[in-house]
Amino acid sequence: MENKKIPWWQPQVEKEDYEFIKRALDANFVNEGPLTEEFEKKIAYFVGAKHAVATTSCTAAIFLSLKAVGVGQGDEVIVPDATFIATVNAVELAGAKPVLVDIDPETLAISVEAIKKAITPKTKAIIPVHVTGRGANMEAILDIAKKNNIFVIEDAAEALGSKHKGKFLGTLGSAGCFSFAANKTLATGQGGMIVTDSDEVFKKLRPLKDHGRPVHGTGGDDTHDTIGYNFRMTDLQAAVGLGQFAHLKERLQRMKKNYQLYAENLKDIKEIKIFHSRSEEMPQWTDVATDKRDELEKYLRGKNIDCRKYWHPIHRQLPYKLPDENFPVSSALLPKSLWLPSAFTLTDEDVLRVCDEIKKFFW
Ligand SMILES: Cc1ncc(COP(=O)(O)O)c(C=O)c1O
Repeated sequence: MENKKIPWWQPQVEKEDYEFIKRALDANFVNEGPLTEEFEKKIAYFVGAKHAVATTSCTAAIFLSLKAVGVGQGDEVIVPDATFIATVNAVELAGAKPVLVDIDPETLAISVEAIKKAITPKTKAIIPVHVTGRGANMEAILDIAKKNNIFVIEDAAEALGSKHKGKFLGTLGSAGCFSFAANKTLATGQGGMIVTDSDEVFKKLRPLKDHGRPVHGTGGDDTHDTIGYNFRMTDLQAAVGLGQFAHLKERLQRMKKNYQLYAENLKDIKEIKIFHSRSEEMPQWTDVATDKRDELEKYLRGKNIDCRKYWHPIHRQLPYKLPDENFPVSSALLPKSLWLPSAFTLTDEDVLRVCDEIKKFFW
């Protein structure tokens, strides 16, 4: 089966997805309703958070979380240079100024030293991004935030099921944001979830995502006490989330196994560095760095093996352009970094075939 395509990632529809969608359709209720509430409860329980609020995407979740803690015009929000651009765009959407900072070379997460240097009297929030499920240095970040009266909103888009010192990532800051986009462990098409232990933040989030309504409205003579927007999930999406949630544990186990197989089989190739994943962390995707990144990606593609090149550093994107010299780590590392095939649908045989091809490429 040498030519079987090995995907970098692929979502999978489960029989339970159909069952839950049938429930939504049979109830003739496709807006946000009981299934969304059930999905929120499942996620809150899973990560051990007091509240969960479903949204249309993780981008919306970050935006709403920023608004809920009062971030707005004139505020600065510190964000890492290595992230999917959504993190930074969400800050823009909230009307605040994103302040990009460099990353840590071992985790590719936000650098604590860089945060310290970037804080000004205008700093209102920090958004650590748990890149590919690796936790940012949350103790240090929470400590800095406390001392400077700054909110921490976790971008946990890639960290569902990943823990840090015994607690789930996403539950450590004022709010944590998850994504259910197609390349995530639970894929509802589009979708996101905010988790928080703060009653105060939670009370703001619901009206914020529903045109200022604290409870589900009628669309008619509702009272809108605050300004809000429409970032509600629908029960059709929640149905898919619930269907896939039934398979969450086995998916996470498989992703972990993928990483372990790569770590074991690639450890002797000195030309390639595997970014570590701690035992309690959940590698959303396995990532590596090599000077021959582009050649390796092309070679693997020729063998019917899909990889994904890392994002460009945000400071190299036109809307956020800044000089490379401000970001020595991300400028050097991201162009060398690559995500290997990491889907939970892969078998041991698939991962070992990728490892064999990588060995053939380097040796
Ligand atoms: C780190 C990170 N932040 C934010 C997002 C945005 O998530 P969504 O596509 O659900 O808006 C993603 C998803 O791609 C991501 O990987």
